[in-house]
Amino acid sequence: MSWSEHDIGGLVRPDDGLVSPEIFHDRELFDFESRRLFMRTWLYVGHESQLRKRGDFISTYMGLNPVLVVRQNDGGTKVVLNACRHRGMKVCRADSGNTRAFTCTFHGWSYGLDGALNNVPMQQAAYGDALDRGKFGLVQVPRVETYKGLIFANFDEDAPSLPEYLGDMAWYLDALVDRREGGIEVLGGVHKIVHRGNWKMGAEQFAGDNYHAFLTHVSASMSWRDADHEADPNPLKPGFQYSSRAGHGLAGWRKNGMDDAPYVPSADYELVAQYYRDTAAEVRDRLGAERVDGPSLGAGNVFPNFSFLTRVFCHSSIGIWHPVTPDTFQYWRYCVVDKAAPAEVKRAIMNNMHVWPLGVADSDDGENWSEISANLIGPAVRDVPLNYQMGMGRGLRDHPRFPGIITESYVAEESHRNFYRRWREFMTSEKYPAIGADEPAIATSSSEGR
Ligand code: FES
Ligand code: FE
Repeated sequence: MSWSEHDIGGLVRPDDGLVSPEIFHDRELFDFESRRLFMRTWLYVGHESQLRKRGDFISTYMGLNPVLVVRQNDGGTKVVLNACRHRGMKVCRADSGNTRAFTCTFHGWSYGLDGALNNVPMQQAAYGDALDRGKFGLVQVPRVETYKGLIFANFDEDAPSLPEYLGDMAWYLDALVDRREGGIEVLGGVHKIVHRGNWKMGAEQFAGDNYHAFLTHVSASMSWRDADHEADPNPLKPGFQYSSRAGHGLAGWRKNGMDDAPYVPSADYELVAQYYRDTAAEVRDRLGAERVDGPSLGAGNVFPNFSFLTRVFCHSSIGIWHPVTPDTFQYWRYCVVDKAAPAEVKRAIMNNMHVWPLGVADSDDGENWSEISANLIGPAVRDVPLNYQMGMGRGLRDHPRFPGIITESYVAEESHRNFYRRWREFMTSEKYPAIGADEPAIATSSSEGR
Protein backbone atom coordinates (compact mmCIF):
# COMPACT_ATOMS: atom_id res chain seq x y z
CA MET A 1 0.00 0.00 0.00
CA SER A 2 1.12 3.54 -0.54
CA TRP A 3 0.01 4.77 2.88
CA SER A 4 2.73 4.45 5.49
CA GLU A 5 1.79 3.68 9.07
CA HIS A 6 3.02 7.14 9.97
CA ASP A 7 0.60 8.65 7.45
CA ILE A 8 -2.29 6.64 8.86
CA GLY A 9 -1.48 7.82 12.36
CA GLY A 10 -1.59 11.39 11.09
CA LEU A 11 -5.06 11.00 9.57
CA VAL A 12 -6.61 10.49 12.99
CA ARG A 13 -5.60 12.98 15.70
CA PRO A 14 -7.91 12.40 18.65
CA ASP A 15 -5.93 14.65 20.98
CA ASP A 16 -6.72 17.53 18.63
CA GLY A 17 -10.24 16.25 17.92
CA LEU A 18 -9.52 16.01 14.19
CA VAL A 19 -10.17 13.17 11.73
CA SER A 20 -9.38 13.13 8.02
CA PRO A 21 -12.23 12.29 5.61
CA GLU A 22 -9.76 9.97 3.83
CA ILE A 23 -10.53 7.22 6.34
CA PHE A 24 -14.10 7.08 5.02
CA HIS A 25 -13.20 6.96 1.34
CA ASP A 26 -9.74 5.68 0.47
CA ARG A 27 -9.67 2.25 -1.18
CA GLU A 28 -6.20 1.27 0.00
CA LEU A 29 -7.00 2.21 3.57
CA PHE A 30 -10.18 0.15 3.31
CA ASP A 31 -8.24 -2.91 2.13
CA PHE A 32 -5.66 -2.44 4.86
CA GLU A 33 -8.42 -2.04 7.44
CA SER A 34 -10.00 -5.31 6.32
CA ARG A 35 -6.83 -7.06 7.55
CA ARG A 36 -5.51 -4.91 10.37
CA LEU A 37 -8.87 -4.35 12.05
CA PHE A 38 -11.31 -7.04 10.99
CA MET A 39 -8.85 -9.93 11.23
CA ARG A 40 -7.97 -9.06 14.85
CA THR A 41 -11.02 -7.67 16.65
CA TRP A 42 -13.84 -9.66 18.26
CA LEU A 43 -16.74 -9.57 15.79
CA TYR A 44 -20.35 -10.37 16.58
CA VAL A 45 -21.60 -13.31 14.49
CA GLY A 46 -24.96 -14.32 15.97
CA HIS A 47 -27.10 -15.11 18.96
CA GLU A 48 -27.51 -18.46 20.67
CA SER A 49 -31.30 -18.27 20.35
CA GLN A 50 -30.79 -18.59 16.59
CA LEU A 51 -28.92 -21.88 17.05
CA ARG A 52 -31.26 -23.94 19.17
CA LYS A 53 -30.55 -27.41 17.80
CA ARG A 54 -27.79 -29.30 16.03
CA GLY A 55 -27.39 -28.30 12.40
CA ASP A 56 -28.87 -24.82 12.94
CA PHE A 57 -26.75 -22.22 11.18
CA ILE A 58 -26.48 -18.50 10.46
CA SER A 59 -24.75 -17.03 7.43
CA THR A 60 -22.98 -13.74 8.10
CA TYR A 61 -19.72 -11.83 7.60
CA MET A 62 -16.63 -11.09 9.63
CA GLY A 63 -15.46 -7.92 7.94
CA LEU A 64 -15.35 -8.87 4.26
CA ASN A 65 -15.14 -12.60 5.01
CA PRO A 66 -18.31 -14.68 4.59
CA VAL A 67 -18.75 -17.11 7.50
CA LEU A 68 -21.16 -19.74 8.74
CA VAL A 69 -21.97 -20.04 12.43
CA VAL A 70 -23.02 -23.63 13.06
CA ARG A 71 -24.45 -25.55 16.03
CA GLN A 72 -22.45 -28.78 16.25
CA ASN A 73 -23.58 -32.30 17.07
CA ASP A 74 -21.97 -31.97 20.51
CA GLY A 75 -23.83 -28.72 21.23
CA GLY A 76 -20.81 -26.49 20.63
CA THR A 77 -20.56 -23.68 18.10
CA LYS A 78 -18.09 -23.44 15.24
CA VAL A 79 -17.50 -20.58 12.84
CA VAL A 80 -16.13 -21.51 9.40
CA LEU A 81 -15.38 -19.56 6.25
CA ASN A 82 -18.26 -19.81 3.80
CA ALA A 83 -15.94 -20.39 0.86
CA CYS A 84 -15.55 -23.68 -0.95
CA ARG A 85 -11.98 -24.99 -1.03
CA HIS A 86 -12.36 -25.90 -4.72
CA ARG A 87 -13.08 -22.54 -6.41
CA GLY A 88 -14.27 -20.32 -3.58
CA MET A 89 -18.02 -20.49 -4.12
CA LYS A 90 -20.22 -19.94 -1.09
CA VAL A 91 -21.18 -23.37 0.21
CA CYS A 92 -24.34 -21.91 1.74
CA ARG A 93 -26.40 -19.08 0.30
CA ALA A 94 -29.27 -19.07 2.81
CA ASP A 95 -29.39 -16.51 5.66
CA SER A 96 -30.13 -19.20 8.22
CA GLY A 97 -31.66 -22.65 8.55
CA ASN A 98 -30.96 -26.20 9.58
CA THR A 99 -28.89 -28.71 7.66
CA ARG A 100 -26.84 -31.88 7.88
CA ALA A 101 -24.30 -30.76 5.29
CA PHE A 102 -23.16 -27.73 3.27
CA THR A 103 -22.99 -28.73 -0.38
CA CYS A 104 -21.44 -26.39 -2.90
CA THR A 105 -23.73 -25.70 -5.86
CA PHE A 106 -20.83 -25.34 -8.33
CA HIS A 107 -19.37 -28.88 -8.47
CA GLY A 108 -20.91 -30.48 -5.40
CA TRP A 109 -18.14 -30.70 -2.80
CA SER A 110 -19.94 -31.37 0.45
CA TYR A 111 -18.89 -30.37 3.97
CA GLY A 112 -20.09 -31.52 7.39
CA LEU A 113 -21.31 -29.27 10.21
CA ASP A 114 -17.73 -29.05 11.47
CA GLY A 115 -16.47 -28.00 8.03
CA ALA A 116 -14.87 -31.37 7.19
CA LEU A 117 -14.85 -32.17 3.46
CA ASN A 118 -16.93 -35.35 3.48
CA ASN A 119 -17.80 -35.93 -0.14
CA VAL A 120 -16.34 -35.02 -3.53
CA PRO A 121 -18.42 -36.06 -6.57
CA MET A 122 -16.61 -38.55 -8.82
CA GLN A 123 -13.60 -38.36 -6.52
CA GLN A 124 -11.94 -41.60 -7.63
CA ALA A 125 -12.45 -40.95 -11.35
CA ALA A 126 -11.45 -37.30 -11.09
CA TYR A 127 -8.55 -37.40 -8.65
CA GLY A 128 -7.58 -41.03 -8.18
CA ASP A 129 -5.81 -41.20 -4.82
CA ALA A 130 -4.34 -37.73 -5.13
CA LEU A 131 -6.92 -35.70 -3.19
CA ASP A 132 -6.44 -35.60 0.57
CA ARG A 133 -9.90 -34.53 1.73
CA GLY A 134 -8.59 -34.06 5.27
CA LYS A 135 -6.59 -31.05 4.08
CA PHE A 136 -9.45 -29.29 2.32
CA GLY A 137 -12.13 -28.71 4.91
CA LEU A 138 -13.72 -25.29 5.38
CA VAL A 139 -11.32 -23.00 7.23
CA GLN A 140 -12.23 -22.58 10.87
CA VAL A 141 -12.17 -19.27 12.69
CA PRO A 142 -9.98 -20.16 15.67
CA ARG A 143 -11.61 -18.14 18.44
CA VAL A 144 -15.33 -18.33 19.32
CA GLU A 145 -16.66 -17.04 22.64
CA THR A 146 -20.05 -15.97 23.94
CA TYR A 147 -21.23 -13.27 26.30
CA LYS A 148 -24.71 -14.02 27.73
CA GLY A 149 -25.96 -15.42 24.43
CA LEU A 150 -24.06 -13.04 22.13
CA ILE A 151 -21.62 -15.05 19.97
CA PHE A 152 -18.38 -13.38 18.90
CA ALA A 153 -15.49 -14.75 16.84
CA ASN A 154 -11.94 -13.63 16.20
CA PHE A 155 -9.29 -14.67 13.67
CA ASP A 156 -6.45 -13.56 15.96
CA GLU A 157 -4.98 -16.15 18.33
CA ASP A 158 -3.24 -13.33 20.24
CA ALA A 159 -6.38 -11.35 21.01
CA PRO A 160 -7.44 -11.15 24.66
CA SER A 161 -10.49 -13.11 25.85
CA LEU A 162 -13.91 -11.71 25.00
CA PRO A 163 -14.67 -10.54 28.58
CA GLU A 164 -11.35 -8.73 28.69
CA TYR A 165 -12.05 -7.20 25.29
CA LEU A 166 -15.51 -5.99 26.33
CA GLY A 167 -14.24 -4.59 29.63
CA ASP A 168 -16.71 -2.23 31.29
CA MET A 169 -18.94 -2.25 28.19
CA ALA A 170 -20.32 -5.55 29.54
CA TRP A 171 -21.97 -3.62 32.39
CA TYR A 172 -23.97 -1.61 29.84
CA LEU A 173 -24.68 -4.61 27.63
CA ASP A 174 -26.29 -6.32 30.62
CA ALA A 175 -29.04 -3.68 30.57
CA LEU A 176 -29.99 -5.21 27.22
CA VAL A 177 -29.11 -8.91 27.48
CA ASP A 178 -29.52 -9.75 31.16
CA ARG A 179 -32.61 -7.89 32.32
CA ARG A 180 -34.48 -11.07 33.22
CA GLU A 181 -33.72 -14.75 33.80
CA GLY A 182 -33.04 -16.45 30.46
CA GLY A 183 -31.63 -13.34 28.79
CA ILE A 184 -32.88 -12.27 25.37
CA GLU A 185 -33.90 -13.95 22.15
CA VAL A 186 -33.90 -12.82 18.54
CA LEU A 187 -37.39 -12.21 17.13
CA GLY A 188 -37.84 -13.13 13.49
CA GLY A 189 -35.23 -12.71 10.79
CA VAL A 190 -32.66 -10.16 9.82
CA HIS A 191 -33.35 -6.71 8.36
CA LYS A 192 -30.65 -5.81 5.83
CA ILE A 193 -30.27 -2.20 4.77
CA VAL A 194 -27.73 -1.20 2.12
CA HIS A 195 -26.30 2.25 2.82
CA ARG A 196 -24.03 4.37 0.72
CA GLY A 197 -21.25 5.40 3.06
CA ASN A 198 -18.41 3.96 5.08
CA TRP A 199 -19.27 1.50 7.87
CA LYS A 200 -17.50 3.70 10.45
CA MET A 201 -20.16 6.39 9.96
CA GLY A 202 -22.79 4.11 11.46
CA ALA A 203 -20.48 2.68 14.12
CA GLU A 204 -19.34 6.06 15.43
CA GLN A 205 -22.91 7.34 15.46
CA PHE A 206 -24.12 4.47 17.65
CA ALA A 207 -21.04 4.90 19.83
CA GLY A 208 -22.36 8.18 21.12
CA ASP A 209 -24.02 10.62 18.72
CA ASN A 210 -27.13 11.94 20.47
CA TYR A 211 -26.31 15.28 18.87
CA HIS A 212 -27.84 14.39 15.50
CA ALA A 213 -31.17 13.11 16.74
CA PHE A 214 -32.97 16.37 17.50
CA LEU A 215 -32.50 17.63 13.94
CA THR A 216 -31.95 14.60 11.69
CA HIS A 217 -34.96 12.76 13.11
CA VAL A 218 -37.21 15.75 13.74
CA SER A 219 -39.75 14.97 11.07
CA ALA A 220 -39.90 11.26 11.96
CA SER A 221 -40.27 12.00 15.65
CA MET A 222 -43.06 14.51 15.02
CA SER A 223 -44.93 11.90 13.03
CA TRP A 224 -44.67 9.53 16.01
CA ARG A 225 -46.35 11.97 18.34
CA ASP A 226 -50.08 12.24 18.67
CA ALA A 227 -51.97 15.52 18.70
CA ASP A 228 -51.88 15.74 22.49
CA HIS A 229 -48.11 15.87 22.66
CA GLU A 230 -46.22 18.91 21.51
CA ALA A 231 -42.69 18.58 20.20
CA ASP A 232 -40.15 18.95 23.01
CA PRO A 233 -38.86 22.54 22.75
CA ASN A 234 -35.57 21.64 24.47
CA PRO A 235 -33.50 19.09 22.55
CA LEU A 236 -30.87 18.90 25.31
CA LYS A 237 -32.08 16.03 27.45
CA PRO A 238 -30.74 14.62 30.70
CA GLY A 239 -28.11 12.20 29.50
CA PHE A 240 -24.54 11.07 29.47
CA GLN A 241 -22.01 9.45 27.21
CA TYR A 242 -19.97 6.36 28.08
CA SER A 243 -16.71 5.76 26.30
CA SER A 244 -13.81 3.39 26.61
CA ARG A 245 -10.19 3.32 25.53
CA ALA A 246 -11.08 -0.07 24.05
CA GLY A 247 -13.13 1.87 21.48
CA HIS A 248 -16.62 1.08 22.76
CA GLY A 249 -19.18 3.83 23.31
CA LEU A 250 -22.76 4.53 24.28
CA ALA A 251 -25.13 7.47 24.06
CA GLY A 252 -27.38 7.25 27.11
CA TRP A 253 -30.56 9.05 27.97
CA ARG A 254 -31.17 9.58 31.64
CA LYS A 255 -34.88 9.09 32.03
CA ASN A 256 -37.21 6.20 31.88
CA GLY A 257 -38.86 6.94 28.58
CA MET A 258 -41.61 4.43 29.16
CA ASP A 259 -43.37 6.75 31.57
CA ASP A 260 -43.68 9.72 29.30
CA ALA A 261 -43.57 8.17 25.89
CA PRO A 262 -45.96 9.83 23.49
CA TYR A 263 -44.39 7.95 20.60
CA VAL A 264 -46.23 5.69 18.20
CA PRO A 265 -49.55 5.81 20.03
CA SER A 266 -51.13 2.43 19.47
CA ALA A 267 -52.49 -0.47 21.48
CA ASP A 268 -49.41 -2.55 20.66
CA TYR A 269 -47.04 0.20 21.74
CA GLU A 270 -48.91 0.69 25.00
CA LEU A 271 -48.81 -3.08 25.64
CA VAL A 272 -45.03 -3.16 25.30
CA ALA A 273 -44.57 0.04 27.32
CA GLN A 274 -46.67 -1.48 30.09
CA TYR A 275 -44.52 -4.61 30.02
CA TYR A 276 -41.41 -2.52 30.65
CA ARG A 277 -43.15 -0.64 33.46
CA ASP A 278 -44.30 -3.93 35.01
CA THR A 279 -40.83 -5.46 34.95
CA ALA A 280 -38.91 -2.38 36.14
CA ALA A 281 -38.90 -3.42 39.82
CA GLU A 282 -37.67 -6.93 38.98
CA VAL A 283 -34.89 -5.58 36.79
CA ARG A 284 -33.97 -3.02 39.45
CA ASP A 285 -33.53 -5.89 41.92
CA ARG A 286 -31.48 -7.88 39.44
CA LEU A 287 -29.19 -5.21 37.99
CA GLY A 288 -29.53 -2.25 40.32
CA ALA A 289 -31.31 1.02 39.77
CA GLU A 290 -28.65 2.51 37.50
CA ARG A 291 -29.41 0.17 34.66
CA VAL A 292 -33.14 0.68 34.83
CA ASP A 293 -33.30 4.39 35.53
CA GLY A 294 -29.83 5.26 34.24
CA PRO A 295 -29.02 4.06 30.73
CA SER A 296 -32.61 2.98 30.38
CA LEU A 297 -32.56 4.05 26.79
CA GLY A 298 -29.67 4.40 24.47
CA ALA A 299 -27.58 3.39 21.50
CA GLY A 300 -24.22 1.68 21.90
CA ASN A 301 -21.40 0.26 19.83
CA VAL A 302 -18.95 -2.49 20.73
CA PHE A 303 -15.74 -1.77 18.85
CA PRO A 304 -15.58 -2.06 15.94
CA ASN A 305 -18.97 -2.83 14.36
CA PHE A 306 -21.52 -4.39 16.72
CA SER A 307 -24.26 -2.02 17.80
CA PHE A 308 -27.37 -2.12 19.92
CA LEU A 309 -30.40 -0.09 20.85
CA THR A 310 -31.80 -0.56 24.34
CA ARG A 311 -35.53 0.11 24.61
CA VAL A 312 -35.52 3.09 22.28
CA PHE A 313 -39.24 3.78 21.87
CA CYS A 314 -39.83 0.37 23.44
CA HIS A 315 -37.69 -1.28 20.79
CA SER A 316 -34.47 -3.19 21.45
CA SER A 317 -32.27 -4.45 18.69
CA ILE A 318 -28.76 -5.58 17.88
CA GLY A 319 -27.01 -4.75 14.66
CA ILE A 320 -23.84 -5.10 12.63
CA TRP A 321 -22.18 -2.54 10.34
CA HIS A 322 -20.84 -4.79 7.58
CA PRO A 323 -18.23 -3.13 5.35
CA VAL A 324 -18.72 -3.82 1.63
CA THR A 325 -16.63 -1.18 -0.17
CA PRO A 326 -15.11 2.09 1.09
CA ASP A 327 -18.38 3.81 0.16
CA THR A 328 -20.92 1.07 0.85
CA PHE A 329 -21.95 -0.87 3.90
CA GLN A 330 -24.82 -3.07 4.95
CA TYR A 331 -26.56 -2.56 8.25
CA TRP A 332 -28.00 -5.82 9.54
CA ARG A 333 -30.40 -5.46 12.42
CA TYR A 334 -32.13 -8.05 14.57
CA CYS A 335 -35.04 -7.29 16.87
CA VAL A 336 -34.52 -8.75 20.37
CA VAL A 337 -36.68 -9.13 23.45
CA ASP A 338 -36.48 -10.67 26.91
CA LYS A 339 -36.95 -14.40 26.50
CA ALA A 340 -39.27 -14.38 29.53
CA ALA A 341 -41.59 -11.75 28.00
CA PRO A 342 -45.20 -12.87 27.42
CA ALA A 343 -46.13 -14.09 23.95
CA GLU A 344 -48.45 -11.10 23.33
CA VAL A 345 -45.58 -8.68 24.00
CA LYS A 346 -43.37 -10.52 21.50
CA ARG A 347 -46.19 -10.46 18.96
CA ALA A 348 -46.75 -6.73 19.45
CA ILE A 349 -43.04 -6.04 18.92
CA MET A 350 -42.94 -8.25 15.83
CA ASN A 351 -45.99 -6.50 14.38
CA ASN A 352 -44.42 -3.09 14.79
CA MET A 353 -40.71 -3.50 14.31
CA HIS A 354 -40.90 -1.71 10.97
CA VAL A 355 -42.02 1.53 12.63
CA TRP A 356 -40.25 1.39 16.01
CA PRO A 357 -37.96 2.85 14.64
CA LEU A 358 -36.90 0.46 11.87
CA GLY A 359 -37.59 1.79 8.43
CA VAL A 360 -38.26 5.34 9.61
CA ALA A 361 -35.28 6.69 11.52
CA ASP A 362 -32.84 4.49 9.60
CA SER A 363 -33.63 6.23 6.35
CA ASP A 364 -32.94 9.63 7.98
CA ASP A 365 -29.48 8.42 9.03
CA GLY A 366 -28.83 6.78 5.69
CA GLU A 367 -29.46 10.01 3.85
CA ASN A 368 -26.79 11.79 5.90
CA TRP A 369 -24.24 9.06 5.25
CA SER A 370 -24.90 8.89 1.51
CA GLU A 371 -24.82 12.70 1.18
CA ILE A 372 -21.47 12.86 3.00
CA SER A 373 -20.07 10.13 0.78
CA ALA A 374 -21.13 11.95 -2.37
CA ASN A 375 -19.87 15.25 -1.01
CA LEU A 376 -16.37 14.40 0.16
CA ILE A 377 -14.95 13.07 -3.09
CA GLY A 378 -12.82 15.95 -4.30
CA PRO A 379 -9.18 16.18 -3.22
CA ALA A 380 -9.68 19.63 -1.71
CA VAL A 381 -12.52 18.61 0.61
CA ARG A 382 -10.74 15.39 1.53
CA ASP A 383 -7.74 17.39 2.73
CA VAL A 384 -9.80 19.23 5.34
CA PRO A 385 -9.99 17.46 8.70
CA LEU A 386 -13.38 17.04 10.35
CA ASN A 387 -14.13 18.38 13.82
CA TYR A 388 -14.51 15.87 16.68
CA GLN A 389 -13.82 18.29 19.54
CA MET A 390 -17.11 18.30 21.45
CA GLY A 391 -16.66 17.80 25.20
CA MET A 392 -12.85 17.59 25.11
CA GLY A 393 -11.37 17.34 28.59
CA ARG A 394 -14.74 16.62 30.20
CA GLY A 395 -14.56 12.82 30.44
CA LEU A 396 -14.54 11.41 33.99
CA ARG A 397 -12.76 8.18 34.85
CA ASP A 398 -13.98 7.78 38.41
CA HIS A 399 -17.67 8.40 38.07
CA PRO A 400 -19.52 7.24 41.18
CA ARG A 401 -22.43 5.66 39.31
CA PHE A 402 -21.24 4.51 35.89
CA PRO A 403 -18.13 2.56 34.84
CA GLY A 404 -15.81 3.67 32.07
CA ILE A 405 -15.10 7.20 30.90
CA ILE A 406 -18.23 9.27 31.46
CA THR A 407 -19.06 12.65 29.99
CA GLU A 408 -21.97 14.11 31.90
CA SER A 409 -23.78 15.55 28.96
CA TYR A 410 -26.42 14.38 26.54
CA VAL A 411 -24.11 15.46 23.72
CA ALA A 412 -20.37 14.74 23.58
CA GLU A 413 -17.71 13.27 21.27
CA GLU A 414 -15.38 11.61 23.78
CA SER A 415 -16.50 8.18 22.57
CA HIS A 416 -15.84 9.17 18.96
CA ARG A 417 -12.31 10.23 19.81
CA ASN A 418 -11.72 6.97 21.67
CA PHE A 419 -13.21 4.95 18.80
CA TYR A 420 -10.68 6.50 16.43
CA ARG A 421 -7.83 6.28 18.97
CA ARG A 422 -8.37 2.52 19.09
CA TRP A 423 -8.84 2.34 15.31
CA ARG A 424 -5.48 4.09 14.88
CA GLU A 425 -3.80 1.63 17.24
CA PHE A 426 -5.01 -1.33 15.21
CA MET A 427 -4.12 0.30 11.91
CA THR A 428 -0.58 1.24 12.95
CA SER A 429 0.42 -1.87 14.91
CA GLU A 430 1.73 -5.06 13.34
CA LYS A 431 1.00 -7.13 16.44
CA TYR A 432 -2.27 -7.19 18.37
CA PRO A 433 -2.19 -3.70 19.87
CA ALA A 434 -2.26 -3.20 23.60
CA ILE A 435 -4.36 -0.26 24.68
CA GLY A 436 -1.68 2.39 24.65
CA ALA A 437 -0.61 5.06 27.03
CA ASP A 438 -2.17 7.58 24.68
CA GLU A 439 -4.80 8.79 27.14
CA PRO A 440 -7.70 11.11 26.52
CA ALA A 441 -7.75 14.23 28.64
CA ILE A 442 -9.65 13.30 31.78
CA ALA A 443 -11.36 15.69 34.14
CA THR A 444 -10.77 15.08 37.82
CA SER A 445 -14.06 15.97 39.44
CA SER A 446 -17.68 15.42 38.67
CA SER A 447 -19.92 18.25 37.56
CA GLU A 448 -23.59 18.92 38.19
CA GLY A 449 -26.45 17.18 36.53
CA ARG A 450 -26.36 13.50 37.49
FE1 FES B 1 -17.30 -25.66 -4.83
FE2 FES B 1 -16.29 -26.40 -7.18
S1 FES B 1 -16.40 -24.40 -6.30
S2 FES B 1 -17.29 -27.62 -5.72
FE1 FE C 1 -30.12 8.30 14.02
